[in-house]
Amino acid sequence: MFINSSPLFQALYINLVVFANRASSEANCFESADLTLFAKMGSAFALPRLVRLMLLLLLPCSCIAQRNISLGSSITANASASIWVSSSGDFAFGFQEIGAKGFLLAVWFNKIPEKTIVWCANCENLVPGGSKVQLTVNGALVLSDPNGRQIWTAESAGTNVSYAAMLDSGNFVLANQNSVNLWESFDHPTDTILPTQPFNLGSNLVARYSEINYTNGRFLFMLRDDGNLVLSTTNYPQDSVNAPYWETNTAGSGYQLIFNQSGSIYLIAQNKTIVSNISSDTSSTRDFYHRAIVDFDGVFRHYVYPKSGGLSSQGWKNAWTVLDYVPPNICMAAPEQVGSGPCGFNSYCQIGDDQRPTCLCPLGYSYLDPQDEMNGCRQDFESQNCEGRSDDKHLFDLYEMTNTDWPFSDYEHFDGVSEDWCRAACLGDCFCAVAIFRDGNCWKKKLPLSNGRIDPRVGGKALLKIRKDNNTSTNVEENHQKDNESTLILVGSVMLGGSVSFNCCLLLTTLVVISQLRKRKVECLQRCPVVPGMNLLNFTYKELEEATDGFKEEVGRGAFATVYKGVVQFESTSLVAVKKLEKKVAEGDKGFKNEMSAIGRTNHKNLVQLLGFCNEGPHHILVYEFMSNGSMADFLFGNIRPRWYQRVQIAFGTARGLSYLHDECSTQIIHCDIKPQNILLDSSFTAKISDFGISKLLKTDQTGTMTNVRGTKGYVAPEWFRSMPITVKVDVYSFGVLLLELICCRKNFETDTQDGYPVILTDRALDCYRDRNLDLLVEDDEEAKNDIVRVEKFVMITIWCIQDDPSMRPTMKKVTQMLEGAVDIPAPPEPTSFISTL
Ligand SMILES: *[C@@H]1O[C@H](CO)[C@@H](O)[C@H](O)[C@H]1NC(C)=O
Ligand SMILES: *[C@@H]1O[C@H](CO)[C@@H](O)[C@H](O)[C@H]1NC(C)=O
Ligand SMILES: *[C@@H]1O[C@H](CO)[C@@H](O)[C@H](O)[C@H]1NC(C)=O
Repeated sequence: MFINSSPLFQALYINLVVFANRASSEANCFESADLTLFAKMGSAFALPRLVRLMLLLLLPCSCIAQRNISLGSSITANASASIWVSSSGDFAFGFQEIGAKGFLLAVWFNKIPEKTIVWCANCENLVPGGSKVQLTVNGALVLSDPNGRQIWTAESAGTNVSYAAMLDSGNFVLANQNSVNLWESFDHPTDTILPTQPFNLGSNLVARYSEINYTNGRFLFMLRDDGNLVLSTTNYPQDSVNAPYWETNTAGSGYQLIFNQSGSIYLIAQNKTIVSNISSDTSSTRDFYHRAIVDFDGVFRHYVYPKSGGLSSQGWKNAWTVLDYVPPNICMAAPEQVGSGPCGFNSYCQIGDDQRPTCLCPLGYSYLDPQDEMNGCRQDFESQNCEGRSDDKHLFDLYEMTNTDWPFSDYEHFDGVSEDWCRAACLGDCFCAVAIFRDGNCWKKKLPLSNGRIDPRVGGKALLKIRKDNNTSTNVEENHQKDNESTLILVGSVMLGGSVSFNCCLLLTTLVVISQLRKRKVECLQRCPVVPGMNLLNFTYKELEEATDGFKEEVGRGAFATVYKGVVQFESTSLVAVKKLEKKVAEGDKGFKNEMSAIGRTNHKNLVQLLGFCNEGPHHILVYEFMSNGSMADFLFGNIRPRWYQRVQIAFGTARGLSYLHDECSTQIIHCDIKPQNILLDSSFTAKISDFGISKLLKTDQTGTMTNVRGTKGYVAPEWFRSMPITVKVDVYSFGVLLLELICCRKNFETDTQDGYPVILTDRALDCYRDRNLDLLVEDDEEAKNDIVRVEKFVMITIWCIQDDPSMRPTMKKVTQMLEGAVDIPAPPEPTSFISTL
């Protein structure tokens, strides 16, 4: 074919072939049409054309003609069915077997082992093996079962279809001979959207029923005709919707949802201005696959998957990672008047450590269908009798669940009442299935309960009616047979050290613990008083003395406390950190209890969890979960430089934890002493902030002006030295310093060993930033250097955080968004004279 070509020409041709083969292993980027071009060449003036072709090939494959599927082609569903692959090989169209239940005609990510499905034709009914999809000679795309019965067809494609193609964007199209798309899978999304996929007014995504069941599920993500983007539950099995549990509130302005080429998801108005950001990110579509899906649990999530193994060195797993999601906490999302909420009736929703919701049944209730936990719970016992005068209230008890609520389903509300009054009112009322008691309010609720949730932000408690007698479910029966007081406090006895000499039992209100205990034979020795409304264990001094073997192993010491390692036995044996406060506790006993209850109510994956306390005479001791990887200070300033991605993760975690303390807890908590020694690392190196709430315990007013500087040199904000109010911004300042230390793996204050002058890292960073020479900051750190854009962003964030004027510093929430790339970082101003404040 190319016999008459010159050597130069042949060389070019070979390069071209090599390039094309490398560009795609699955599909050749150039097809016969292009080859004919070569055949016609051979004269000198054909060369410029060839050069142009080469340039064309250097662009991503998507701009080259796709592999065309010609009329008459078909695929038959079986284990070794062929597939139609896009030219880059990223996406495929064909049959996927689901369980052993049948086949789904689908589009999926083809280069990853998960073969994640992004679109399906017959989501509602799987087809058996032997079914066939055919692009007929008339240009119709038809799925038919082995008997030839039509199951699905691409509607309204018209009659001019001349070929079909799987595009590299993940769009499967039917096109006419002018390559105008007559039908696109992008116009008929199922539960997923991909970058560049349009999503216009009236479009919706329907969640699948469960992870592996592609049937329409219970949630809808919808750009309503009025321009409001909403998430709603549906009245399954119909797809009529309930009031949204999340919305952008853009009725009248929202026009189109964009998932752009760089992986940002946002809503625009008709004039193209952005009216709402849904998810934005720095992971480019060059390095990552992106997809956004309304998951079967009702959360709309934006996922990424690294395209090649190379990113694993930056901490990316070869798995789908969630970048962003809405609503922030589906369990706490707006309740709905009609419908059960995100979980089924009579169940309650809890957000796990992985930020995913779980639907649980309360004590005395069990799943309607154990295979389908989102389908609700049924009461296992016979309800209270409402007939005549029969008084069976002594057969019932109230089981207390703190921070739990079922908003709505109220039928009576009283205020200004006591808890005892509320309890009596519910026990004496056959309609009352649960009473909610909160701040002197008592709400009576009847079945079925809806929108159930447990969350520290709920506050108050639910008093759930359960039956004590023989008609009770076996679960309840086993554990509460001997209880005949009118108030059932669910108490699990926990034996410390495993010996009977410890004769105090601990009140465990945490349901997780309860469910563990329910499985076991539990013996309650004695009931202890505890601070109400808390999930904390109340230890005696003696117990802690035993747990720490006489306060033997010291693991840390600070100005006001010494920390010991201990072992406490509950569920399984657990390591704990026992912190003995050595100074006098401010405000005496009451202050201590109040603070304990504030700290006890916090619950975040980036905070060290307080498990319990001891408040006995002069002893004030806090018991925390034990962090096996020590503090960030040891990690960062040790001999071996930690990996860059781990440091980045620690920055994210610390920022999230602080943001929670400042904005999301019921009472705002200013930490006042953020430094690497107070950031602990668990077994998976997740950053957890420790010692929050303590500063308040030890000294008086936190928000007033201070004469007494707290905090640690090098990390304290300038306002400590001036007569200025102390606000959350002192933590922002300290975080800025900490972030810089994470970048450089150096202490902010370090005496240079050579000339004895102090080296101030914040100064140095500012110089490097000013001179645009950030490489200098991370000199011998290849990993950080390879991510210099992020280094620069982090340095800019630091400079914002260490602004002299507290009001100039961003909030921690904003800092978190800037770190995660959710918002842009404006160029920071020079901090004025911040050196003088150190
Ligand atoms: C696919 O078909 C269209 C229309 O017939 C044509 O323009 C295009 O060149 C074809 N692409 C390939 C790779 O054959
Ligand atoms: C999917 O769930 C629906 C609703 O429960 C059920 O009817 C259907 O049989 C399930 N499909 C599969 C394949 O399990
Ligand atoms: C995608 O959107 C983001 C946020 O608006 C923007 O910064 C980015 O430039 C956009 N990318 C493209 C390719 O349009």
